[in-house]
Amino acid sequence: MKRIRWTAGLFVLVLSAVNVFGENVPDGVPADENSPETQAFSQDVRLCEHFSPDFQIGTAVSPFQLRVPELREHILRHFNSLTAENCMKPEAIYRNDAFCDFRQADALVEFAQENGLAVRGHTLVWHSQTPRGFFRDENGEKLSKDALYARLERYMTAVLTHFRGKVYCWDVVNEAISDYGPEIYRTHSPWYEICGKEFIAEAFRMAHRIDPDIRLYYNDYGLISPEKRRKTVEMLRGLLADGVPIHGVGIQAHWNMHYFSPEELQKSIDAFAELGLDVQITELDMSVHGRRPPHQAEEEKEPQKDGSTEEEEALQAERYAQAFEVLRRNADRISSVTFWGISDGHTWLSYRGKGKDFPLLFDAELQPKEAFRKITSPELLSVEMPDGVPRINEDGT
Ligand code: GLA
Repeated sequence: MKRIRWTAGLFVLVLSAVNVFGENVPDGVPADENSPETQAFSQDVRLCEHFSPDFQIGTAVSPFQLRVPELREHILRHFNSLTAENCMKPEAIYRNDAFCDFRQADALVEFAQENGLAVRGHTLVWHSQTPRGFFRDENGEKLSKDALYARLERYMTAVLTHFRGKVYCWDVVNEAISDYGPEIYRTHSPWYEICGKEFIAEAFRMAHRIDPDIRLYYNDYGLISPEKRRKTVEMLRGLLADGVPIHGVGIQAHWNMHYFSPEELQKSIDAFAELGLDVQITELDMSVHGRRPPHQAEEEKEPQKDGSTEEEEALQAERYAQAFEVLRRNADRISSVTFWGISDGHTWLSYRGKGKDFPLLFDAELQPKEAFRKITSPELLSVEMPDGVPRINEDGT
């Protein structure tokens, strides 16, 4: 037993050295997936350790998961950063102007503190998962802009003061950019309806005034699609030109294995980093059963499946490998990569009435999937990439 562990340990050490010194695995020589060394390697790898020279590896959690010993152990093994899946949203915290309920969030933050994990704050200003009453007065009338800002200031002061020194960054504004047409901003939002676009700048300024030490992020989905990237860059450039304190962009990364494009990911990282902003991947998952490209649309009519096939797992693994190839190559511009969930056993994608999905690196039994093996193996350096995307270590560094 000891000998097996020792051999596996040595193998991990050799592989880490290969990564550290950036030696290339020749193209077209993928590691043998079934060799005992590869198996042992997968079992021994800790995600956060494996990627520690590059970026933090986080997961989204809910407090009920922290009461399950296997999940606690799994989190501590693989992740060094936590995001609250729901319990830090206004819906979970705001009760009224005089009372915020921090009980759930405190359980998460205490767990993180006890175990030396970082905590990302998610989220302060969002059109969704915010009580309707937040935008109304005691008579149910819509608040004026000034009254809404006054409420936001009280709320932010309570939250940021409560978590001061324990939460290193916040998604200050979530999802303010429009998906449709030429308009830049999401107009169908109580924030926009009451304040216009200026609520975005106001929220960042407020957060910075209250706690100048925390890192402030703009967070959104769809940020690797060309149109939404263009709109987001335009908004961010304007905010920065006006001196608004904003430190980074959260690319949510709810991706779909039928559509994911490593080239577009690279373009978005370039665009945000060129503005001088830190980039974080904040809600990563890779849907297997999401919407299909038009030529596969027929398949959408099939009844929802309860599992994923080997071919689907292989395609998902390929997409994850492409994504991580890009992320590692840009490690100097990316400080954190967070998965939106721990395992396929609990993912928001399975709770949308469209059947189960399997978007994460671990299956419901917490066993590593093919995608896990692929992103942590030397094969990552020889993953098939579309033309025009430069490779990791191609210059031998
Ligand atoms: C958005 C939010 C997250 C979460 C996911 C889906 O991306 O930012 O907080 O609600 O949707 O669960």
